[in-house]
Parts: sequence; structure tokens; C-alpha cells
Amino acid sequence: MTTRHYNPIDRALVNLDQAVRTLFGKPQTTERPNPAADIADTKLSEKERKHVARLMRINHTGEVCAQALYQGQALTARRPEVQHSMERSAREENDHLDWCETRIDELGDRKSLLNPLWYAGSFAIGALAGLAGDKWSLGFVVETERQVESHLDGHLAEIPMTDSRSRAILEEMKSDEVRHAAVAKAAGGASLPGPVKLAMRLASKVMTRSAYWV
Ligand SMILES: [Fe+2]
Ligand SMILES: [Fe+2]
Repeated sequence: MTTRHYNPIDRALVNLDQAVRTLFGKPQTTERPNPAADIADTKLSEKERKHVARLMRINHTGEVCAQALYQGQALTARRPEVQHSMERSAREENDHLDWCETRIDELGDRKSLLNPLWYAGSFAIGALAGLAGDKWSLGFVVETERQVESHLDGHLAEIPMTDSRSRAILEEMKSDEVRHAAVAKAAGGASLPGPVKLAMRLASKVMTRSAYWV
């Protein structure tokens, strides 16, 4: 097998292409079906529909951030095997992005208008984490995925039991995030210092609050 070498301009174009696909187009997904595909839709009250749609909008924005983090990190990861081990996880984040978008459409709502901003910020953070070294950037992935897991638990507790379609998507995402954390840890992810974990929690709070409304 031959390895293709990209120069900096090629890599910038690849990243730009990924950003545009993530934000405005159809990102490259895996072969997996949407977990809600075979589940009948149930009637939600207007209040429930609005609330769930906004929660799914938050999750969609979270997946925009996840995609940007993985892209930023891949740009600066040092060992090729680290890049490769993260590739499948990044592709699965696109599944999540796609499933959340489909559910938002079904619920008659829209994606967050701030997604380009969150993409840019997360990409920069991912790239910086990559520059800090593979063990830190992998540790960053581990911590991100763990925080997403507990965030999804919160949403699962809030979404009505009757909304089986949204729930099936979030359950599948949660089990993926648990696996993504394990993959990054096995690849050598280090445990991050407490203040960094706290800063990450604060940043995600700003993201979730703003995406609910904007
Ligand atoms: Fe995800
Ligand atoms: Fe993930």
C-alpha cells in the first residue's frame, strides 16, 4: 500500500472541505443505519416537541464540536497510528451528526446558527491539544467523551419515555462515546489536570445553554 503525502496547502483544503461538509453538507458517515429507522414515531405535545427539538439541537452542535476536535487533532497528531486509531471514531461522530440532524428535521426545528463559531473554536482547541503531544490530545478525547456520556445521561433523563426515536439515537450515541473514550485511552491517553477538566465543563455549559436558544 502506498502512503499519500499531503503538503500544507492540500491539508488546509482537506480541512476546509471537512468543515463545509460538517456545517452545511452531508458528512461522510459509516455503513451503520440510523438507530431510529425502524421505530415508530409517537405524538408529542407541542411543548414536548419544542423542548426535545432543542435538546437534539444541542446534541447536534456537540457533534459539530466533536468533529472539529477530531479534525484539529488529526492535523497535529504526531504518530500515524494515533491518527488512524481516531479515524473510525471521527467517522462515527458523523453518524451522530447525521442522526441528530434527521431527528431535528422530523421535529420541525433547525440547527444552531452558532455552529460555524463552535466548529472554529473546537478545531483550534483540537489542534492545540494535538500540538501538546499525542498523550495529551488522546487524554483530551477521553475526557471529552466521558463528559459527553454524562451529558447524554442527563438528556435521556429529560426526554419523554414516549419519544422512542430520539431515545434510540441518544442511547446508540452514548454507547459509541463510551467506546471512543476506551479507544483513546488504549492508544495512550493521559489523565488531564483537574483545572483543564473544569474548563472543558464550563465551555460545554456555555455551548449547551446557547445552542438551546440560538
Ligand atoms: Fe458523538
Ligand atoms: Fe465520540
